[in-house]
Amino acid sequence: MRILVTGGAGFIGSNFLNLLVPKYPEYSFINLDKLTYAANLSNLKDIEDMSNYTFIKCDIADYNQVIDVFEKYAPDIIVHFAAESHVDRSILGPAEFIHTNIVGTFNLLEACRKSWINKNGKIFHHVSTDEVYGSLGETGLFTEETNYDPSSPYSASKASSDHLARAYFRTYGLPIKITNCSNNYGPYQFPEKLIPVMILNALEGKPLPIYGTGENVRDWLYVTDHCEAIWKVIQEGKLGETYNIGGNNEWTNIDIVHKICEVLAGEAGKSPEDFKSLITFVKDRPGHDLRYAIDSSKIQRELNWYPKETFETGLKKTIRWYLDNSNWIENIKTGEYKKWMDLNYTDRVG
Ligand code: NAD
Ligand code: DAU
Repeated sequence: MRILVTGGAGFIGSNFLNLLVPKYPEYSFINLDKLTYAANLSNLKDIEDMSNYTFIKCDIADYNQVIDVFEKYAPDIIVHFAAESHVDRSILGPAEFIHTNIVGTFNLLEACRKSWINKNGKIFHHVSTDEVYGSLGETGLFTEETNYDPSSPYSASKASSDHLARAYFRTYGLPIKITNCSNNYGPYQFPEKLIPVMILNALEGKPLPIYGTGENVRDWLYVTDHCEAIWKVIQEGKLGETYNIGGNNEWTNIDIVHKICEVLAGEAGKSPEDFKSLITFVKDRPGHDLRYAIDSSKIQRELNWYPKETFETGLKKTIRWYLDNSNWIENIKTGEYKKWMDLNYTDRVG
């Protein structure tokens, strides 16, 4: 079985490959990635020499490149992670989000449609986000039946790609499965997202920027729990179905930043106040969704998936990972990370 993983050099994709490549020596894994600023091949150093792993540099927004990969590797399963993934960047410059997330997904679907004619046992697993559902008020949960109502160019582009995947199932019978997951955290996350931004800034004594009032709520899930859920859906989920994945773990941003300061202080042998005093409230993100919360009862009931990490264990592991991997941090600091962090918030979001 040949499994083509798109975006496998990014945060979730590399965790997925690190989990599965050693576990399934009988399967071949092909990692297709454009290597944008968010990619890091060093995330894959533990598996890069394994005989069932191959890396191929490819831009999914370029149809000819995609078709070449399909002709060469004839994949049986596609696990589609590749995307522009950061909401703030989509506000500053939406074009890349349209190219990669919409046109790129379309190209992959087309390549499958053309190369899988009359072939059984194939799967296109589309990895998506809870942000497609828009914002919740104080109560309620996103279910698989919640209407799409995206707020940012990022979430609109992901919603569009979900619609394309579903349309290819209904129109062409393409073997599609979709998962919509809440906020992930864990090792290898590029420090533009909330948790690693806070960890790295706190360690450097820099301001901890909280957008608006800090009352926005997200539902956090440890990254390997997400990867295991995806694998479970690939193995046991029904074709044409959507599965929501979440941690049942809602936090306001201000509470999570306090929590990070406390765990960091414990791990680094400092006082939580040393870090909490760095908290700085900044201008709000335009179109900032108030609250996300996932109802995961379908995947729990039908596929018996449950997260393994609690927020206590997951956050501690994550902070420990950033403390133990100063080389990884030093290597990314000079490039796009520095450029992004040097922009003040207003310049970042226009
Ligand atoms: P990431 O930004 O860390 O990684 C994205 C990867 O895709 C990078 O390796 C990048 O080089 C690659 N890529 C980007 N454009 C490409 C292109 N045109 N061609 C080929 N490769 C390209 O993202 P992530 O956080 O790992 O997210 C992975 C997927 O999971 C995305 O589809 C995202 O929408 C979804 N998701 C993320 C979260 C989260 O909390 N991070 C939650 C739910 C769903
Ligand atoms: O819900 C799933 C989504 O989670 C994924 O689809 C996206 O790819 C992923 O980026 C993430 O989107 P968010 O916008 O929720 O994540 P982010 O880490 O950017 O922000 C989390 C919350 O923290 C959000 O309410 C904005 C706030 N925030 C973020 C940053 C980076 C701050 O207050 N300060 C910050 O510096």
